[in-house]
This record gives sequence, C-alpha cells and structure tokens, in this order.
Amino acid sequence: MRILGIESSCDDTSVALLDCSDKGCFILSEKTASQIDVHKKYGGVVPEIAGRMHAEKIVPLIEAVLENQPKPDAVAVTSGPGLITGLLVGVEAARTLSYITDLPLVSTNHIEGHIYSTQIKNYDTVILNRVKDPSRSDKRDSSSAPQNDKTDLQFPALCLVVSGGHTELIIMKDHGKYKLLGATIDDAAGECFDKGAKLIGLPYPGGPQISKLALTGNTEAIKFPRPMLNSKDYNFSFSGLKTSALYWLRDNKESLNINDFCASFEQAIIDVLVAKTMTAAAEYKPKTIILCGGVSANKKLRETLQSEITANFPNTRFQLPELKYSMDNGAMIAVAGYHHAKQKDFTSWKKIKADPNWKLAK
Ligand code: KG4
Ligand code: ZN
Repeated sequence: MRILGIESSCDDTSVALLDCSDKGCFILSEKTASQIDVHKKYGGVVPEIAGRMHAEKIVPLIEAVLENQPKPDAVAVTSGPGLITGLLVGVEAARTLSYITDLPLVSTNHIEGHIYSTQIKNYDTVILNRVKDPSRSDKRDSSSAPQNDKTDLQFPALCLVVSGGHTELIIMKDHGKYKLLGATIDDAAGECFDKGAKLIGLPYPGGPQISKLALTGNTEAIKFPRPMLNSKDYNFSFSGLKTSALYWLRDNKESLNINDFCASFEQAIIDVLVAKTMTAAAEYKPKTIILCGGVSANKKLRETLQSEITANFPNTRFQLPELKYSMDNGAMIAVAGYHHAKQKDFTSWKKIKADPNWKLAK
C-alpha cells in the first residue's frame, strides 16, 4: 500500500510517499521545506508566518513528491496536535486531494507520527546491508526486505516523546493502543533547550546549539536542579531549570564559560529524562523502548539512554529514528497513517478537522 504523508504542524512543510507492507514502510520520495531561517529572526516560531509559508509550499511539495511515482492508495495528514495555522493548511490540502482523487484519508496524530518515525525504512540502507550479504537480490521493492529484522516494533513499547511542544512517557500496548504514564506540567524538554539557549544569546532552535557547545564543556561545572527527579510519578517539569539558569547568569555573568553552562544545562535535562524512563521500564517491563521527537536528535541523550538500557535491561530493544527523522517529517505521518489504513480507519474529507490539542494518550 502506498501512503502519502503530509506534515505541517509546526515549522516544517514535509511530504513523503512511502511503500508500506507487513515488511515495513519504505521511502519512495520525500521533500521538506524548513522555515527555520525565517523564524530564527524572531527567536521562535511565529504562527501566522508559519501558516503563510506552509500555504506557499504545500502544493508544490505534493506535486514534486508525486512526480514520476505511482499513485498513492491513501493520504495521511497531521490533524493535531500543533499550531492551528499550520494544521489547517495541511488538512485543507489533504481534504482537497481526497475530494478530487477519491483517495481515502487518514487523520493522523503528530505524536503517533513521532513514535512511528522509528519504523521508517530506506531502500538504500536495505541495499547497503545486502552488499554485505550477496545472496540477497537488490530489487527496489519491499518484498525483498528482510522480515522480522531488529527494526520491527515489539509490544509493549515504552515511548519517550521529547520535542519542542511535548515531553511524554507513553506505554504502547499495540498499534493504536496508548496509555499516558506522565507528561510535563509546564515547559517541554525542547522548549527548555530553546529557552536556555536564548538566555545566553544563541539562536532558535537552541537544542542543537546547546548540544554542540556542550561537547567541550564540563557537565558538573554548574549545579543545576533536576526538577521532579524523585517525584513518585512520571511527570516532568522544566520551567524551574530555566529560572535557575536565569538566576545563575544574573549572579555569575563574569565567570560564564559558555561550554560549561551548556554541558551542565544539557546534563540536567538528560538526567531527568533518562531516570524517569528507567523507572518506567522497571515497572512496565517493555520489550521495546522508543526515543523520538526533535530532542531525540540529541547525541548525548541517545547515548546515555542506550547505555542505561544495555546495562539495566539488556533484553529490551532500543529504537530511535534516523537522525533526519527526529525532526518533523511527512514520512513518519505516512507510517502512522499506514497502520490506521490497514484497519480501514479512514476519515471522510467532509469530516476531517484540525485539532491543535489532540491528545494521543490519556
Ligand atoms: O519534533 P520537533 O521537530 O518539533 C516539534 O514538534 O516541536 O522538535 C523541535 C525541538 C526544538 O525544541 C529543538 O530545540 C529540539 O527539538 N532539538 C534538540 C536537538 N535538535 C532539535 N534538542 C536538543 N538537542 C538537539 N540536538
Ligand atoms: Zn514534532
């Protein structure tokens, strides 16, 4: 089944066509238009500008992705959560496409998309693996893909979703079955990275900047708090960390070493995320642990979680998106959409609605 995925919930307009079957979802074609350079000037995403830029880009991107490709069998679009100005553009484009072509439509949750970003497969990677195993043909279709490789999703899966708008621990019992263990009660982890970066004059988005500077810094130079580290639940809070960084800068401006600041700040966020995930893993004994969302691009977070899982839960699989699929993308929406399309979980173009506050799990 070929699925066209459309994503426009924040500052990336992204469209992808995937070939999906029981053997996995493979990229046929994909295009993304990032708006970061424009929003950078304002220190964050400006919803009205985002909406306009999505509107300019979405049709040319759909056209470019479908060029010289076989017709899709379904269209999956992010209908929430996210910025209403962006969601409306994606939903209206998908609705129109469905109306004109009669293709069935999947209303897709952005967070579910991030979870499925770990399942995106690339023909090139499969072909590369085959070079090591010449007995396999290198036909470019999913029928020649390996079955039950280490990338298939085994349940229950514990998902740490960390992005600019979300910090959630979710247990996924099966496709489409989610239970929320905990979430941030204030700022999201990505938002905390972005606000911390702003305090020291780094441009938006701050996460990649902080992690780069942190590489040569001392993680123990500044004793930042680890908010809610010992709370007996799976909730998070990051606004106190930002405030503590603000006061530290006010009182220690002269002695600021930017690398040490970044390393200490990053470590405080990572310590909380990893500790809560490990506690949840001990309680729920998942077969898979998933790290996803924009903050999953953070190298130190990836490595720390990986080594904690290897040390404490050696039989649990750790799944991450490929680095480029940590960020918002249309491919992850296509994969999530595929699992709904398989169940014929479609929404008519007459009924689909953007919902900026759509909760995946309760
Ligand atoms: O998932 P995403 O692309 O958009 C949302 O749905 O929010 O996530 C964007 C967030 C931003 O807050 C950005 O600073 C953060 O992901 N981010 C990072 C890194 N790369 C992106 N945070 C920490 N370290 C990184 N390397
Ligand atoms: Zn996202």
